[in-house]
Amino acid sequence: MTGDAHFFSGKRALVTGGASGIGRAVVTQLLRRGVHVTSFDVREQDDGPSPWFEPLRVDLADAAATDAACLTLDPHPVDFVCNAAGVSPLQQTTETVVAVDFLAVRRICQRLLPQMPAGGAVVNISSVAALHDLALSVEDGLLDADDHVALAHARANVPEAGLGYVVAKRAVVALTVRLAAEYASRHVRVNCTSPHFVATPMHDAIKRSDPAMYRDMPAPMGRWSSADEQADAVLFLMGPHSRYITGQNLVVDGGWQAVTATAVRTGAPPS
Ligand SMILES: NC(=O)c1ccc[n+]([C@@H]2O[C@H](COP(=O)([O-])OP(=O)(O)OC[C@H]3O[C@@H](n4cnc5c(N)ncnc54)[C@H](O)[C@@H]3O)[C@@H](O)[C@H]2O)c1
Repeated sequence: MTGDAHFFSGKRALVTGGASGIGRAVVTQLLRRGVHVTSFDVREQDDGPSPWFEPLRVDLADAAATDAACLTLDPHPVDFVCNAAGVSPLQQTTETVVAVDFLAVRRICQRLLPQMPAGGAVVNISSVAALHDLALSVEDGLLDADDHVALAHARANVPEAGLGYVVAKRAVVALTVRLAAEYASRHVRVNCTSPHFVATPMHDAIKRSDPAMYRDMPAPMGRWSSADEQADAVLFLMGPHSRYITGQNLVVDGGWQAVTATAVRTGAPPS
């Protein structure tokens, strides 16, 4: 039992991407606290169903399938949502990246937030890729657009999937802020986290594809984070100790942003 187990015990959560990496670590931490967890993932999930865990096979790039999966959560509204599913830009189109990393997050928030009880919390996973406006605010055109218009907008403005990832993750931050403003008076909080490299299968694939980028990237604490350390931040943002925090983007990067900003200020290369 952890110290906040009384707060979590018996509540309900939806986690996307629960088959791997950060999502899986969030599922594990929630189950440890006595939360009933449903997980949407396109992949088979190792842990089979149990009275506490319901893994559902859902392709979040498919809007109708995502809607149908959200309906299965009725009649029990969820207290917590963690949108962790995501695809890296490697071997993906801009459309797939935007569909999974942003449009599915928006869809799930739109479907579930109206039913969430006071005290509920959403945590979306963005990325440090969202911290700089590398794609000239293309995300502004995604926020309110219907899915097909948003996809066409992304395809036309950021045909390269790497920038599509930046745009999708910036849209997640903007959506988080907007929803936090909308739901604060109902005492439902909406925050996001922005990890730097995390030791997960996604990260391993990036490492294999671009070893030079990986080698040159400063890791101020001498290592990248574990999925569990990212889950710690998610659980904090769901839990009682963040009860007055909403609309925030918690950067969980082991000092990468601090070191990079200091290097820009002083002109010395980051180490
Ligand atoms: N790993 C990193 O270095 C890193 C850094 C910054 C941000 N992130 C973000 O963290 C989140 C989790 O990434 P991770 O590193 O745990 O990756 P991961 O690949 O280990 O896990 C991602 C999960 O999402 C699922 N998924 C992918 N496409 C899906 C789809 N269409 N429908 C349903 N599920 C789908 C995968 O099956 C997988 O289980 C992602 O949003 C990612 O962008 C990761």
